[in-house]
Amino acid sequence: MAQQGTLPLPLDPAERAAKLREHIREHDYRYYVLDDPIISDAEYDALVAELRALEAEHPELITPDSPTQRVSGAVAEGFAKVQHPQPILSLGNASDADDVRAWHERIRAYAEKNLPDLDLERLERFVVEPKIDGLTVVLTYESGVFARGATRGDGSVGEDITANLRTIRQLPLTLRREMLNGTVPTRLVVRGEAYMPVADFERMNQALREAGERPFANPRNAAAGSLRQLDPAVTAKRPLRLFCYAIVDYDGDVPAPTTQWETLHWLRQAGFPVSDLAQRFEALEAAIAYCESFIPRRDEMPFEIDGVVIKLDDLEAAAALGYVGKDPRGAIAYKFPPREATTRLRAVVVRIGRTGNVVPNAVLDPVQVGGITISNATLHNFDDIARKDIRLGDRVIVKRAGDVIPYVAGPVVSARTGEEQPILPPTECPYCATPLTRREGEVALYCLNPDCPGRADRAIEHFVGRSAMNIEGLGEKIVAQLIEAGLVNDVADLYYLKKEDLLGLERFAEKKAQNLLNAIEASKRQPLARLLVGLGIRHVGEVAARALAERFGSLDGLIEAATNHPEQLQDIEGVGPVIADSVREWACRESTRALIEKLKRAGVNPVQAARPLISEGPLTGKTFVITGTLSQPREAVAEWIAAHGGKVTDSVSKNTSYLVVGDSPGANKLTKARQLNIPILDEAGLRALVEPT
Ligand code: IVH
Repeated sequence: MAQQGTLPLPLDPAERAAKLREHIREHDYRYYVLDDPIISDAEYDALVAELRALEAEHPELITPDSPTQRVSGAVAEGFAKVQHPQPILSLGNASDADDVRAWHERIRAYAEKNLPDLDLERLERFVVEPKIDGLTVVLTYESGVFARGATRGDGSVGEDITANLRTIRQLPLTLRREMLNGTVPTRLVVRGEAYMPVADFERMNQALREAGERPFANPRNAAAGSLRQLDPAVTAKRPLRLFCYAIVDYDGDVPAPTTQWETLHWLRQAGFPVSDLAQRFEALEAAIAYCESFIPRRDEMPFEIDGVVIKLDDLEAAAALGYVGKDPRGAIAYKFPPREATTRLRAVVVRIGRTGNVVPNAVLDPVQVGGITISNATLHNFDDIARKDIRLGDRVIVKRAGDVIPYVAGPVVSARTGEEQPILPPTECPYCATPLTRREGEVALYCLNPDCPGRADRAIEHFVGRSAMNIEGLGEKIVAQLIEAGLVNDVADLYYLKKEDLLGLERFAEKKAQNLLNAIEASKRQPLARLLVGLGIRHVGEVAARALAERFGSLDGLIEAATNHPEQLQDIEGVGPVIADSVREWACRESTRALIEKLKRAGVNPVQAARPLISEGPLTGKTFVITGTLSQPREAVAEWIAAHGGKVTDSVSKNTSYLVVGDSPGANKLTKARQLNIPILDEAGLRALVEPT
């Protein structure tokens, strides 16, 4: 088949429509399934436009599997019931490696007892696949053409969602006959999982919120909700994707695959999207190790997985083992701990953040989330509480993912009893009674007293944190312990701690005390930029801190300039008027002077060669903000930008020229950039500004 965007011209409209369809189908497969298109979007659009025109002129040529028919059909009144050809089974669960070993022992014992003819070696080969958290779909193909798609329902009867499934571009409307040696099964039923990638889910929820509609609780609900729309045009707009992993029913001249591994290969050939994370193993322990390798990678996956599935590779052996209830014996789900749970909101306490921002914190009935017990979670701010209508006494959904602080995502409105009470924002700081204020354009309330005792622990936590002085072994609990014992009131006090002080504390033995002192001592060698980040100067993030450190070389140099020549601050790449003002205000504060003297006396005084850093280049005059993970560390990208004359700042404003977006970008920066119509670039786009292609 020709692989280009243009077609030689058969004149017969029927032939031409068939050819166009064949080509479009191939390009869809390359684009949506292989992620490897070979023609431009414009060439592709031209093919589709031509087919549409042809079909408009000759409606009799329209076929149900035509790519123009993905969004078609009227709004349904409801969904018809569909009887599945085979029970759509579920899976038993394992929650750790021992559970998986026990499963394998069980099936071996079962086979020994009940299947004397089965060679036990056939139970020793496995396929491991990610368990995508979406919605099961059952897809029927008649003579190679997509005929019907259904939900799982109760496992024997599902709902007909054919029109909605058709809108998923990854779903083949026709099997790729040429890849199946020219023959397709007369009947094929495939099982898969429809899902929504996390980033798309977040974007969609944002759009729903902006439109005043109710957002979905998680990607799985979003996928399910989108597939249960009565109007396929709505489903078509939802970013749904598909993975297929099983043949449920097969009728054809060529025998069906007999192993799971071959099944995945066959499905891929036939045109179905198949996970490329699936792997085959010859030993259970290797399979288990692979399962566990997903746990730390869970947050980096573009889609939610709630576990992995281990399947016997030998499908005949698996079938012979049968099932218990709805769970086949031949496979098991290694489930990861859920990352959301519901519990009761008992109280709201206010904490003061590092910059004086007021953070409402939820006191919860203890609940397990993602493998740890949670009894506190952030409620972000009081506007958020009001917007989500969270009330005291509510059952609330608590979420956590990876390193993210647990947070209350929203109330379970249906569980309300009427006893719940509204949560009102405080008017004064609970620590120092300063009236709280709101800064223009921000949602947070602030306690503007820079010496508010409520801030001390947050300031210290920030100072010792990973992006600042990186003092290992000094977590939130120990900081609280040190403050409570009166040993530490500000960050400088850390450098005056003595071993005897620590040994007097609960749970501090010789070794732990010494390790902590060593870590504190080592932090004196951190570069100036980290110290500046640690001091928590408002608006000074990593980029600005590095720029200030490079320009002034020492704490004294910075303080001197900020007090006597504040105009010098603004000349620095990466420092705008807001940061400059904030640094000046900070430098002039009496408490800052005292703190810095105290740090210097303790030997915390990093010095580096000061160098003015202004290059001329193609990016001169351009201001960039970076969000998400790029191919290199952010500092390296920032340096590259600076070397070409541009500057990098921490937050998006109307002065930003471009937002550079990597993987897992921050939603706030993206939204802000869109609101301000700021051009958004990926890394290649950034490079192209310097070396146009
Ligand atoms: S196999 C007999 N494989 O997980 C076959 N299921 O608890 C049973 N799921 O609702 C299913 N990814 O929809 C299988 N790679 C995968 C899966 C998978 C997600 C879902 C499935 C089912 C649930 C089972």
